Order: sequence, then C-alpha cells, then structure tokens
Amino acid sequence: MYKLILTVLAFCLIQTCAAKTVPSQGYQSFDGYQVIRAQARTLEQGMSLINLQRDHPSLDFWKEPSLTDDTDFMVPSDKILEISQYLSLHNVEFYPLIKDVGQLIASQYDGYQMTGVREPISWTKYHNLATMYEWFQNLTEAHSFVHVYTIGQSTEGRDIKVVRLSKDPSANKPAMFIDSAIHAREWISLATVSYIMNQIVNNPEDNALLDDVDFYFLPIINPDGYEYTFTTNRMWRKTRSRNSASCYGVDANRNYDYEWSSCSGCSSGVCTSETFRGDTPFSEPETEAMRVFIEQSKQSGVNFQSYISVHSYGQYFMLPWGYTPAPPADYEELQMVANYVAGNISAVYGTEYTTGSSSTTIYPTDGTSQDWAYGTGLFKYVYTAELRDKGIYGFILPPTLILPTAEETWAGFKVVAKHIIGK
Ligand SMILES: *[C@@H]1O[C@H](CO)[C@@H](O)[C@H](O)[C@H]1NC(C)=O
Ligand SMILES: *[C@@H]1O[C@H](CO)[C@@H](O)[C@H](O)[C@H]1NC(C)=O
Ligand SMILES: [Zn+2]
Repeated sequence: MYKLILTVLAFCLIQTCAAKTVPSQGYQSFDGYQVIRAQARTLEQGMSLINLQRDHPSLDFWKEPSLTDDTDFMVPSDKILEISQYLSLHNVEFYPLIKDVGQLIASQYDGYQMTGVREPISWTKYHNLATMYEWFQNLTEAHSFVHVYTIGQSTEGRDIKVVRLSKDPSANKPAMFIDSAIHAREWISLATVSYIMNQIVNNPEDNALLDDVDFYFLPIINPDGYEYTFTTNRMWRKTRSRNSASCYGVDANRNYDYEWSSCSGCSSGVCTSETFRGDTPFSEPETEAMRVFIEQSKQSGVNFQSYISVHSYGQYFMLPWGYTPAPPADYEELQMVANYVAGNISAVYGTEYTTGSSSTTIYPTDGTSQDWAYGTGLFKYVYTAELRDKGIYGFILPPTLILPTAEETWAGFKVVAKHIIGK
C-alpha cells in the first residue's frame, strides 16, 4: 500500500497530475459502437441506405448517403448484427471502418483538455471552450491589432465571439471570414483555425499578411454544442436548442436563409435528425448572431471577399452550391483557386484533397452557411473545407495529428488570402 502511494506520488511529480484529464462521470462511453462504411454504387443501393437512415434514428450518419462518395455511420453494439444483415440483403458493400468507437475515444483522453481543467493553449491537445476564450482575451491584451467582439449569446447563454486581426480596420482592406466548430464534434476544425490565428499573430512572415488583408474569425460558432462534446457526448453535432421535451439541437449548417429547405433530402424536418434544419431559417441564436454581425460589418464598410467554413472530415475543399448541382456564376475562378489550395495543401505532407461544388462532390445540402454567404452576394470566394482524415479516425482525429493538419491547411488557406489581394 505504502509503496503504491509512493509510486503514484512519483508519477504525479513527473506528469503533473493536476493536468491529467479524465472525463467527468456521465461522459458517454460508446463502448462497442462501430462505424460502418458502406458503398452504394447503384440507385437501388442508395435508396436502401436512405431507407436505413429513415428507419433507424439510432444510427448516427457521419457521412450522408451518397452515390458518389462513401456513406459512414455509427452503429450501437446491439444493432450491428441487424444492420449488417440489412446491408447484405440489399447487396450494399460495407466494412467496419472503426471497430470500437469507445476504445478509440478513451485512447485519446490525454489529449482532451476536459471542462474545468485549466492549461495554456497548445496544438497537441483539444481544448475546452473556457481555454479558447481565455486565449482570445490574452491575444487582445497583448496585441493592438487583435480585437474580440461578443456578437451574441447561444441558446444556453454562452458568449459567441469573433476575433478580428487587422492593423487598420478603417482602411477596409480585402477581408476573410473564417468559422469553425459549427458542428460540435469536428474538433480539428477549431484546433486548426486557432493555429492559423496564432500563426498570423506570432509568426512575422504570416503577420505581414495583415498589411494587405483583414481577418475575421468565428472559431466557435456553436459554443453549447462544443462544450457538450467535452462534458457529455463526444459525438454531438448540433446546437443545444430544445425543440420538444426530448429533442435537442438544430444542424446550424442547415439553418441559413438561402434556399432553406429547398431540395429533397438536403436537410431534415425531423427534430431528432442530425441534419434537422430548424423550424425557421435563423431559428438558432448562433446563426442569427453571425448573420447580424456580417451584415452590419458589410454595411459599415468591411470589404468581405472570402468566406471559409471549416469542418471535418474527408479532405475536400468545396465551393457552392450545396442545393443544386448547377455551377455557381464564378465557377471557373473559384474552382481554379480551389485547385491551387489543394495543391498547396498536398505540397506540405502529401495529403490529398478533392475539390468541386459541394453538392456534386459529397452530397446535396440546403440552408448552409456556404450557400448563404455566396447566394446573398456578401462574399465571392466562398468555400467549405473538410479537413483530415478520410475515415480511419473520422471525427476522432488523434491529437498528434493536430499540428500537421493545421500546418497544411494554413498553407492552403493562404492561397485564398493571396488571391483576394492579387498576389
Ligand atoms: C493566458 O495568459 C496567462 C498569463 O500569461 C497564462 O498563464 C495563461 O495560461 C494563458 N491562457 C491560455 C489559455 O493560454
Ligand atoms: C500554390 O498556389 C499558387 C497560387 O498561389 C499556385 O501558383 C501554385 O501552383 C500552387 N502550388 C501547387 C503545388 O499547387
Ligand atoms: Zn461539419
């Protein structure tokens, strides 16, 4: 016994026990859950996946049913046999992509900074909301070119913050607006965007971009959902608004007022669905706060040129539209820049990205921020980025991959920044 205590003490001295992260009780385990990858190659197979999704609300689709791409979904352990039989019966090819979601999550706990733990920011861990907000505060106190706006409050009353990096806001230089973590579980999006912010603030070469560009970051557009992924459910995607007694959350990225609810299968009207669009466009205080901030900024002269919405996973750099396969008016230029972005990403670590309109590259969607940003004419260079990986880890990308993912992504986004200033 005595020996054990000594060992634990020695361990604590080396590892700093205070920072040791263990999730709170009630953090959903996902033990035995699998992620299955199915490949629909015929219309019939596609329909059988759509029916599967409709009839089994307990399946969590990580990638929506698609004929052009893989369809990935998480299955609770007690449903695996039934679902496998269904897929075989309908001649859909499939295999387990992640054999045990719970084990994968637990293997990463050391790289999760759980709620309540206080640590300085780093890019070796996924950080909780309070740490991110404290870091924004640190940045604004240390640098006159950093300004933090509170643009509204979430359903549960958390602040929603925009960080502006600008050396001379009144000059109205070409501006980029970048958001992340609209889908709560896509942690790598925020880790990457915070890395980019840090590079612009602290790396002299990147800081020089501020001579020509203003940056606006909305790093955690969905703070309730993000916090929930640290306290309760790693796999939460939506907001945390309450739709009925037992039904929480809207897919904020189906909640924007452009072609909202306009195409069949592009979003859901069922409140339990992961792609529930909400009862009305901008029903969510989070998307509404973003709309008001962007519209007011534009009215007061901000020269918005580019909007990038950062997500995971799949390695895509996509342009409008989501709601129609028709090419956008600026298709050729947007696609050319997207290809340069992909090329510059790949040049760093060889990571391969696919480019194209989102509806034809992954699956059709409506009411997305991308379509709103482009369709309203507020921005021209509009993109949706789906970061690493292609499915080995999916949303549960290991903390050790934050840095390489962030580095290559920034190399790509810089192409857009340079394009809008004509360099
Ligand atoms: C903010 O700055 C303080 C003082 O330097 C530091 O102790 C703290 O760790 C920083 N916070 C974050 C989240 O980096
Ligand atoms: C990187 O982007 C530039 C445009 O900024 C382009 O000229 C160049 O070909 C791209 N590099 C690669 C490897 O695609
Ligand atoms: Zn997403």
